Amino acid sequence: MSQKIALVTGANRGIGFETARQLGKQGIKVLIGARSEKKGKEAEATLKAEGLDVEYINIDVDNTETHAAAAKEIEDKYGKLDILINNAGIFLAEEFDADGGMVPASKTSQETFRKTFDTNFFNTIDVTQNLLPLVKRSDAGRIVFLSSGLGSLGLHSDPSSPIYNYKVPAYNISKTALNGYVVHLAHELRDTNIKVNTAHPGSVVTDMNANGDIPVEEGAKTSVDLATLPADGYSGKFIHLGQELPW
Ligand SMILES: NC(=O)c1ccc[n+]([C@@H]2O[C@H](COP(=O)([O-])OP(=O)(O)OC[C@H]3O[C@@H](n4cnc5c(N)ncnc54)[C@H](OP(=O)(O)O)[C@@H]3O)[C@@H](O)[C@H]2O)c1
Repeated sequence: MSQKIALVTGANRGIGFETARQLGKQGIKVLIGARSEKKGKEAEATLKAEGLDVEYINIDVDNTETHAAAAKEIEDKYGKLDILINNAGIFLAEEFDADGGMVPASKTSQETFRKTFDTNFFNTIDVTQNLLPLVKRSDAGRIVFLSSGLGSLGLHSDPSSPIYNYKVPAYNISKTALNGYVVHLAHELRDTNIKVNTAHPGSVVTDMNANGDIPVEEGAKTSVDLATLPADGYSGKFIHLGQELPW
């Protein structure tokens, strides 16, 4: 099969939806991963009406049974996966107190840490481990993780950085951990044709970030770039719009 097959998790809205649209416009078949069948099918219908080759697939990042089922469905239908974009993620309201202030590291609850890490880290890894055998069957596999500049320890340690005072511990550290996984997976796959990278999309206006400063059209660009890197492209990098970010 020559047509490229991509899967984007959390593709029913926000950056994931726009990423699916931009990949679809490049002639790639995009599987719209969503945990809600209703929302996934609505997204599918919207993009199909734009003439794009897309299809809803059930993936609830927090339900590992759906990971194995999705892998089986993709294997049966396509026999491979060229692009995996781990886009789904959460940022819990519990990171803020009743006055809207950020709950500091010393007060962030175990529950907030665990819930955030389950989705953004542990279960995202499980999605990846289930789908990796299919990515290995591609001639040019690309795996992208949606991290955040807020996961950068380098920026968090630099008082002159714009995010220095934006300390929401569970979300930020879940993305730091995810970046660590990317470095390790890229190293494991260094002698294959698979490229594994982690993206900071920018501060993007979505349901997650009402105060963002760029639209989703621009926010999806880094994911799309990393998903379509050429054969001599890099792997194991933390990227925003082609620029490397500090870990
Ligand atoms: N927006 C920003 O400024 C920004 C900045 C840096 C990084 N990011 C990262 O970019 C990614 C996309 O963010 P966004 O701004 O587009 O967020 P969003 O608008 O809140 O959308 C999040 C998407 O993830 C899905 N999702 C959440 N939990 C899921 C689960 N357990 N299983 C399957 N899907 C799940 C949501 O599905 P439902 O509709 O079912 O909830 C939704 O489709 C996230 O990883 C985020 O951390 C965003």
